[in-house]
Amino acid sequence: MEGFSPGADNNKGAILAVLAEWLPQQARLLEIGSGAGQHAIHMADELKHIDWQPSDRASVLPMLTNNVAAYGSANILTPITLDLAEDTWPAETFHCAYSANVMHIVSSELGEKLIRGAAKALAEDGLLALYGPYKYAGDFTTPSNADFDLWLKERDAQSGIRDFEWVRDLATRSGLSLQEDRQMPANNQLLVFKATAS
Ligand SMILES: C[S@@+](CC[C@H](N)C(=O)[O-])C[C@H]1O[C@@H](n2cnc3c(N)ncnc32)[C@H](O)[C@@H]1O
Repeated sequence: MEGFSPGADNNKGAILAVLAEWLPQQARLLEIGSGAGQHAIHMADELKHIDWQPSDRASVLPMLTNNVAAYGSANILTPITLDLAEDTWPAETFHCAYSANVMHIVSSELGEKLIRGAAKALAEDGLLALYGPYKYAGDFTTPSNADFDLWLKERDAQSGIRDFEWVRDLATRSGLSLQEDRQMPANNQLLVFKATAS
């Protein structure tokens, strides 16, 4: 597989177990920042009732599309370009928007676009699931996450582990209410929000 990531391989089982608890039957899911598509390929194969729509920036799309074509099950849709910087979202609605390890990679401006755009793309009662590390009351959950944050910022000054409260408040202002903050292996969290009736 092109662009294989050991990290994505390690966490895919734990994330799948939580998503499976939340996802309704016959759901359409939009993944933002699919990367090499490892989560899409593994999870869609296990969740055959889900139509899984992978997406990423244009530069990543050839790798993602090749991997999905080679290893994906029939319920994975052809990957689409979704660049948070361009803020162009699919016209149809989804029952779930899922994004793993993107919020701490993109700038806070693009992180805000991720939450606002996903909220608009969700059907009534739709879910937003965000996987990754967060800070709480300004503190990292572990020293290793503090080190990870420094490493991220050395690569790109705009990257960095976000405050849980900032994410939650942005989501709330976008009409999403926090349903669960699940502690995951390797000092990560899976935040699950639900679109509330406006
Ligand atoms: C650390 S990787 C995570 C990949 C995958 N979700 C995973 O968990 O293994 C971060 C992803 O964010 C994507 N990304 C970065 N900037 C983006 C943008 N402006 N719009 C959409 N995706 C972006 C990258 O292309 C990459 O696939």
